[in-house]
Amino acid sequence: MTGGTRGAKSGTTTRAKAAAAARGAGGRPLVVTDPHALRAALDELRRKGRSIAFVPTMGALHEGHLELVRHARAVAGVVVVSIFVNPTQFGPHEDLARYPRDLDGDVRLLATVPADFVLFPPVESVYPPGHATTVHVAGLGDGLCGPHRPGHFDGVATVVAKLFSMVGPCTAVFGRKDFQQLQVIRRMAADLDLPVRVVGRPTVREPDGLAMSSRNRYLSPGDRLRATALVEGLRAAAAAFGSGERDPAAIEQTIRERLAGRVDRIDYVFVGDPGTLQPWPGAVPPGRTAVAAIAAFVGTTRLIDNVELGAETI
Ligand code: PAJ
Repeated sequence: MTGGTRGAKSGTTTRAKAAAAARGAGGRPLVVTDPHALRAALDELRRKGRSIAFVPTMGALHEGHLELVRHARAVAGVVVVSIFVNPTQFGPHEDLARYPRDLDGDVRLLATVPADFVLFPPVESVYPPGHATTVHVAGLGDGLCGPHRPGHFDGVATVVAKLFSMVGPCTAVFGRKDFQQLQVIRRMAADLDLPVRVVGRPTVREPDGLAMSSRNRYLSPGDRLRATALVEGLRAAAAAFGSGERDPAAIEQTIRERLAGRVDRIDYVFVGDPGTLQPWPGAVPPGRTAVAAIAAFVGTTRLIDNVELGAETI
C-alpha cells in the first residue's frame, strides 16, 4: 500500500522520515493506550500513503520478538508493536497473574529497532463490558496445544482479529516458534477476508539452541539445562528425516527418547502435516515436509518448540 512508483532508495528515505516523524522524542516509540487514538494517528499516516506493519506481542520482549520487529521495519514505513497480556488466552490454572511485565524495558528495546508506536491498551478497552464475540477457528486449533489449553486459540484468534481492526496493518509478523498459532491466524485472516499479509519468521534461539521465550525466565538454572532436551529432540528428528526416515511414529519415538528423563511431563510429541496439523495415516507422503512439534514441562514451566522437517535447519 505504499505509493507505488518510487525508486527503492528514495522510497526508503521517505519511509524513514515518516517513521521518524511518527516516533516520540529521543527515537522512542510513542506509547498509546487508547486504541481509538492510535487508529486516528494511523489513519492520518495511511492517508499520506504510508504502509503499516504490525507485531502483536504480550511484552517481556526478547531477541525473538525484536527480530520480528526488524522484519516489520524492513517491509513497511510505519511499525506498530502491541503489548497486551491477553487474559482470554490463559486458562484458569495458567500463568496470567505471574506473566512477566516490563513496559519500560520493552520500550527501551523497541527504541533500538526502532518501532514507531506501541499499543499498550488496558484490558477494559479491549474487552469492554458487554463484549460478546469470539473468533473460533475450527480444526487447526483442535490438536496439539488445543486439548491441553482449552479456549486458548479462541482467545488468540479473537484478540488478534481485534488488534488487526485497531491497527489496520498491511503486514502482520508472527514467529514460527508458535507454529500452531501462526496457522490459526493465517486461517482466520483468510476466512474473514482481512486485508493483511500474515508473515511467519524463523524461531530465534539461544546459543545452545533453546528457543527464546518470555517464559524461559521462569526456569531455575537446573531446569534451564534440562530445557535443551526439546531442541535436542528436534535435532534428532531432523537428522532422522535427513537420512530418509518417513515414518512419523518412528520420528516421534526418536524425539521421546531425547526427552526421557530430562523433562518432567510431555503434553505431546507430534509429527504431521504442517498445513493441516493432522497426522498422516501412514508415512510422510513423498516430496512433502513434516512439522515436528513438542510441548513439555520442565519444572512448572511449559515449553513448546517445533521444526519443519525438510524445510528448516535447526
Ligand atoms: P508472545 O508470546 O509475546 O509472542 C509474540 C510473537 O513473538 C509471536 O508471533 C511469537 O511467535 C513470536 N516469538 C516468540 N518467541 C519467538 C522466538 N524465539 N523466535 C521468533 N519469534 C518468537 O504469541 C503471543 O505473544 C500472543 O499469543 C499474541 C499473538 C500476541 C496474541 O495475544
